[in-house]
Amino acid sequence: MRALVAPSILSADFNNLGKDIEMINQSDADYIHFDVMDGVFVPNISFGIPVIKHVNKIAEKPLDVHLMIVDPDKFVEPFVEAGASILTVHIEACKHLHRTIQLIKSYGIKASVSLNPHTPVALLEDIIEDLDMVLLMSVNPGFGGQKFIENTYKKVQQLRSMIDNAGSDCLIEIDGGVNYDTGKKLLDAGANVLVAGSFVFSADNPKEIISGLKSL
Ligand code: DX5
Ligand code: ZN
Repeated sequence: MRALVAPSILSADFNNLGKDIEMINQSDADYIHFDVMDGVFVPNISFGIPVIKHVNKIAEKPLDVHLMIVDPDKFVEPFVEAGASILTVHIEACKHLHRTIQLIKSYGIKASVSLNPHTPVALLEDIIEDLDMVLLMSVNPGFGGQKFIENTYKKVQQLRSMIDNAGSDCLIEIDGGVNYDTGKKLLDAGANVLVAGSFVFSADNPKEIISGLKSL
């Protein structure tokens, strides 16, 4: 299995969130992905620390928390305390990214940086060796169910070369518009982790979709 799979609960049934978390627990998923949105960095508000704290009580997979918020430094500790195992901040939201990454790592969890579709991979040149993961947005952040941006494949190839040249084991995660077709092409281009929200939760058998993504 070459893919790691991170179902995004943005598309889960919030009237029965516990049921969807149990489904993920029993599935082949590797992480649970949380799309935290503040309505400022992105034009939508999703959920925050109380949801993650409660899910953490029943989750049997590491919590992969994606902060689409301004001033993420202020929220590193609360999300670590809520149970985050991986914390992703947006490069576009950080004045001092190196300091933010050091802050995340000081709590003993994995540090990850996300790039919006317009943000060049080259900006990571001098911090790639400090990162556990890079999350490339393959849609403009804010909503699930959007159309995949084709330029993402090129960015994956560029990032794969940067990581390999640096001798790093940094993971490449892709978020937005992931399905069997885009997922296979992303893995072929060098990606490691597939985030999928609507493709998983719109299916009759989400567990089957997760296993299908694992075996691409
Ligand atoms: C965008 C969100 C979505 C979500 C996955 O801000 O980050 O990308 O995770 O959305 P789907 O898989 O439904 O495109
Ligand atoms: Zn995300």
